[in-house]
Amino acid sequence: MSSNNESIGKTLGVVVSLCLVCAVVVSVASVQLRPLQQANKIQDVQRNILAAAGFKDVKDVEATFKANIEPRVIDMKTGEYVDVDHSSFDFESTKYDAARSFAIPKEDDLAGIQRMTHNSPVYLAKDESGQVSTVILPIQGYGLWGVMFGFLALDDDGQTIKAIQFYKHNETAGLGGEIQNPKWTATWNGKQLPVDIVKGTAGDNEHKIDGLSGATLTSNGVDNTIDFWTSNKGFGPFLAKVRKGALN
Ligand SMILES: Cc1cc2nc3c(=O)[nH]c(=O)nc-3n(C[C@H](O)[C@H](O)[C@H](O)COP(=O)(O)O)c2cc1C
Repeated sequence: MSSNNESIGKTLGVVVSLCLVCAVVVSVASVQLRPLQQANKIQDVQRNILAAAGFKDVKDVEATFKANIEPRVIDMKTGEYVDVDHSSFDFESTKYDAARSFAIPKEDDLAGIQRMTHNSPVYLAKDESGQVSTVILPIQGYGLWGVMFGFLALDDDGQTIKAIQFYKHNETAGLGGEIQNPKWTATWNGKQLPVDIVKGTAGDNEHKIDGLSGATLTSNGVDNTIDFWTSNKGFGPFLAKVRKGALN
C-alpha cells in the first residue's frame, strides 16, 4: 500500500529543498572563508620570501616580515623604484590585467609565461645594522607541467645567489618536485650569475648547478626561468643598478 509520503512530488520536494540548503551552506562558507584564504595566501608568500632571505621556521610570519623585509616596486624597463603598492600584486593573476601587463613576444619568452607586468615588487632584507644584505626577486617560469612560482635571493652585489625558493608548481613529486628539496636548493648558495643547470656534476664551478636526476625537463625550465628573469627582459635593468651599489 502506498502512502502520501511516497509520492513523486514529495520526494522531489525533499530532494530540491536539500539541494537548496546545501547550496546555501556551501556558498555562505565560501564567501565567509574567502578573506581567511586570502590572508593565508599572503602569509604563505611572505613565509617564502622570508625563507629566501634566510629566515627559516618563522613563528610569527607577519611580524617577522614587517620587521625585516622592505617591499619596493620597480619599473621593469628602467629598474627605477616607482610609487606603487606592492600588495596590489598577485603573482598569478596580475599579468592578466591588461592595464598593468603586456604580452611577451614569442622570441623573447624564454620562461614560457606569455605575459608579464610592467612593474614588479622586489623585497629588500636588512641585516642588524639596517643595511640591505639581500634582494629577493619574484620569478616564474614553465617547468614540465605548468608554471613554477618562486623567489631568487641575491646578495647586495646583485651577482651572488643566496637562495632559490619555489612555493607553487605542478611538477611531479619525487621528480620535478625536487625543485623544493632543501638539499638541492642549498647547492645554489654562493653560485654566481649567470648560472647553468647541467646534467652530471657541476662540482665547484661557480656558474654551474647540478641538474635534478630524472627531471631534466623541469631542470631546463628552471634554467630558462633564471636566464629570463636575470636578463634585460626581466630584472636586468634593476640588477645593473644593484651592481653599482644602489641598495645601500
Ligand atoms: C608520470 C611521469 C611524470 C614525470 N614528471 C616529470 C617531471 O615533473 N619533471 C621532469 O623533468 N621529468 C618528468 N618525467 C620524466 C620526463 O619524461 C623525462 O624522462 C625526464 O625529464 C628526463 O630526465 P633525465 O634525463 O634526468 O632522466 C616524468 C615522467 C613520467 C612518466
